Amino acid sequence: MAATTIRLSSYFCCLLLIVQVHSVNRDNFKTCDQSGFCKRHRSLQPGNSPYVVLMDSLKITPTQISVQLLNTKTNVRLIVELFGLQGNTARVKINELEPLKPRYEIPVGDVLVGEPRQQDIKVLDKASSSITLGLENSKIVLTYSPFRIDFISGEEPLVSINAQGLLKFEHFRKKPEAKPEEAAPAEPAEGEEKKEEEVKKEEEGEKKPEEAEESGLWEETFKSFHDPKPNGPASVGIDISYPGFENVYGIPEHAESMALKTTKDTDPYRLFNLDVFEYELYNPMALYGSVPVMWAHNEKSTVGIYWNNAAETWIDISSTTADKNFFSKIADLVKGNTEMAQMDTHWFSESGVIDVFVMLGPRPKDVFKQFAALTGSTELPPLFAISYHQCRWNYNDQEDVKNVDANMDLFDIPFDVIWLDIEHTDGKRYFTWDAHKFPASKDMLDAEGAKGRKMVTIVDPHLKRDDNYKVYADAKSRDLMVKGGNGVEYEGWCWPGSSSWPDFINPDVRNWWASKFQYSEYDGSTPDLFIWNDMNEPSVFNGPEITFHKDVLHHGGFENRDVHNLYGFYVQKATAEGILMRSNNEQRPFVLTRAFFAGSQRFGAVWTGDNMGEWSHLKVSVPMLLTLNLAGITFSGADVGGFFKNPDSELQTRWYQAGAFQPFFRAHAHIDTKRREPYLLPEENRKIVRDAIRLRYTYLPFWYTLFYHGYRSGETVMSPLWVEFPEDKSTFKMDDEYLLGSSLLVKPITDQGATGTTVYFPGRNDVWYDIQTHQSYAGAQNTYINAPLGKIPVFQRGGSIVPRKMRVRRSSSLMSSDPFTLVICLNKQGEAEGDLYADDYKSFAYRSGNYIHREFSFKNNILKSSNADPNGQGSTKEWLEKLVIVGFPKAASSVDMTVDGNSQSLYHNYDSTTRVLTVRKPGVNIAKDFTITIQ
Ligand code: NOJ
Repeated sequence: MAATTIRLSSYFCCLLLIVQVHSVNRDNFKTCDQSGFCKRHRSLQPGNSPYVVLMDSLKITPTQISVQLLNTKTNVRLIVELFGLQGNTARVKINELEPLKPRYEIPVGDVLVGEPRQQDIKVLDKASSSITLGLENSKIVLTYSPFRIDFISGEEPLVSINAQGLLKFEHFRKKPEAKPEEAAPAEPAEGEEKKEEEVKKEEEGEKKPEEAEESGLWEETFKSFHDPKPNGPASVGIDISYPGFENVYGIPEHAESMALKTTKDTDPYRLFNLDVFEYELYNPMALYGSVPVMWAHNEKSTVGIYWNNAAETWIDISSTTADKNFFSKIADLVKGNTEMAQMDTHWFSESGVIDVFVMLGPRPKDVFKQFAALTGSTELPPLFAISYHQCRWNYNDQEDVKNVDANMDLFDIPFDVIWLDIEHTDGKRYFTWDAHKFPASKDMLDAEGAKGRKMVTIVDPHLKRDDNYKVYADAKSRDLMVKGGNGVEYEGWCWPGSSSWPDFINPDVRNWWASKFQYSEYDGSTPDLFIWNDMNEPSVFNGPEITFHKDVLHHGGFENRDVHNLYGFYVQKATAEGILMRSNNEQRPFVLTRAFFAGSQRFGAVWTGDNMGEWSHLKVSVPMLLTLNLAGITFSGADVGGFFKNPDSELQTRWYQAGAFQPFFRAHAHIDTKRREPYLLPEENRKIVRDAIRLRYTYLPFWYTLFYHGYRSGETVMSPLWVEFPEDKSTFKMDDEYLLGSSLLVKPITDQGATGTTVYFPGRNDVWYDIQTHQSYAGAQNTYINAPLGKIPVFQRGGSIVPRKMRVRRSSSLMSSDPFTLVICLNKQGEAEGDLYADDYKSFAYRSGNYIHREFSFKNNILKSSNADPNGQGSTKEWLEKLVIVGFPKAASSVDMTVDGNSQSLYHNYDSTTRVLTVRKPGVNIAKDFTITIQ
């Protein structure tokens, strides 16, 4: 009873916090100083490495070399394995040679899509101090003493591992018995002499055990939470430098600028999936998800590393200058006397092994491909998922859903999905419905379905501990839950009160979970229902740092300490598999997740969690989404309007305009906020917001094609400018404007009261056209653009062809047979190119060739459409309605289309003020080859 009271009070205290506090409670979250292993690694000094290479142990195979390292302080041996991988990638693994028990490694096939394909590495040189290997265009130099590995391309050093000697690998050990009589002698007090034998021992260099030097190895306390650390210290860390680079990016999730900052005066960036209430901006605190991937970019190269470790991880960043002496010794490089910049990073994780993938680019799109080869690309989403989503916590009941739907129609605002938050359930028992509020969920779903719309319900991973709750009772009887350190089902507090969590680390548990999405299991669900996974860090209201205790036990006997950052990844994976299974693998799933890890892109979309309805949060959404894109999570968005607070109509309007040009586009709001469906806005704002959402719908063919490219290549969807203009230094820190593919430049307005903004137009030879006025702007310069409330600064690149659909309907699926308009923006040579991908927008039929991929080129005043991909054998009803040729110099005398050898002339008109030639009704089926010739 007493225990319950305490738990209840901490639950209500959490709820209270949620309603009242208005900035993050930092006390809930550890600083580096409060984390033993973080402190231990951070205090290491460069140049003091205890590790030496045991050269006799060197083994060489065609694709791999391995060598042992000896820790001269502890006599423990490590094994270093270096693999050449296909696609200009290498892998460096460091583990204990003989661990007391296996250390956790993420199973291949989960984050890594498969065993990475190996590539020959040739021994180029074997000297007494180092060995040099050749990998594709790069060279790898392993230096023995001090131990370091350098990656070099041509004459440029790119990545150095352990150049500062910060390798630290805490081997598994037996807990020392506390024997008072053998305790280390205390240091003599001031003035007191050391005993003769002690001095002698010290002089003889007798090593002190690590334990004597470091504290917090076997237990740790944070606030009232005790971490018993039954396995003792197990952390691993190493430094990774990028000589020649001044900017590094990646390692989401932080509310941070895109170019990462040095951490000299702050904590390191932390990767530890946490539910951070009212998170603060521009700091390195952990948030909901973690992708331990980092890129370094300069004018010549883009390179990066993926740190394949699921434990809590911290990353320090500093900038220095490269050690030219060293580099001039290992290669004929670093010419001239000028100093070379360098970014130094230091990575450390609480457990696991060191497993670093080095991706050597050399261009931005190469590294994205290299990372996608390891962890997969964003699955092609169904079309509805990239359309507009209407969400709030909560739509109260079926009537409410019906009203929102009707009002959206009334005000001509398209939407594809309406969402139900936790209040739709029977007492926060997921997979159930509140029988009073949603007595006929199938009818409701069918009514949405009739308009081509879908619904999403929330399914969180915590299960209410109620034996009458079928899902919980089933999990309990099968013993599927995560256990506390005491081996008993773990219990904590979340929305339903006392809860337990299925052990998603276990593949059998994931299969069990997936089976719960069968229509027969999830009563009241239909094929129009999709899923939202929230609180999957996991969020535990009364847990340390609002999450699991570190000693919680998972499948295989591993602790949460080892796997923490993967929990949410597996929840989404299992959910996506469930949605896939319920359709016999025929329909594409859609699952939104809050927690994520590397590879989450394969299972659905991610959003940036509980932001605020404030201008600063609108602004930070851009760098946050750019960073997610750089880390492979391309299908991502921020709550439009902001989750907390009541944004005024100007902020809402600007947020909709930004969201309309971001990959995942969903409005959402906290339960305590005023209702704010877009039709509730004052008339002027309502019209502008409606136009922004409708504009999104006109660009759906472009977005869909973009996602198709991302799926095929692993490329970003929303990109920093340097991805397309890698040599333009002025873009390296630019994170308030971005590109969609290579064709659209977007600069959302994120300042209150702004009526214009300065846009940087990249590309010395480029020209950009305003998508609304068609006014042109020259590249490689800043230009002030007027942007009163109704204006979204978006520009199409001269030289690109963008497919659109101009007949906006109530939902995307109602537009699936509608005709296309091609917007052809000419470059300075009067040319342009582009493409279009289309299929049934929902199933996996494209995997057996049921798609069309067209390639368009405009040259010498002829538009040519040809098949971009012979594997695409699909057909479609969609046809070509219009050409809008922007930047065309003069009126045409004739426009003729040729299809299958037959010609016909087309109606056209020219606007000499905007220099736009419009060609109407070619009428040709979009899957056909054709040419349109302008004279
Ligand atoms: C937290 C989520 O971040 C938020 O989006 C959701 O509305 C609430 N949980 C309630 O489910």
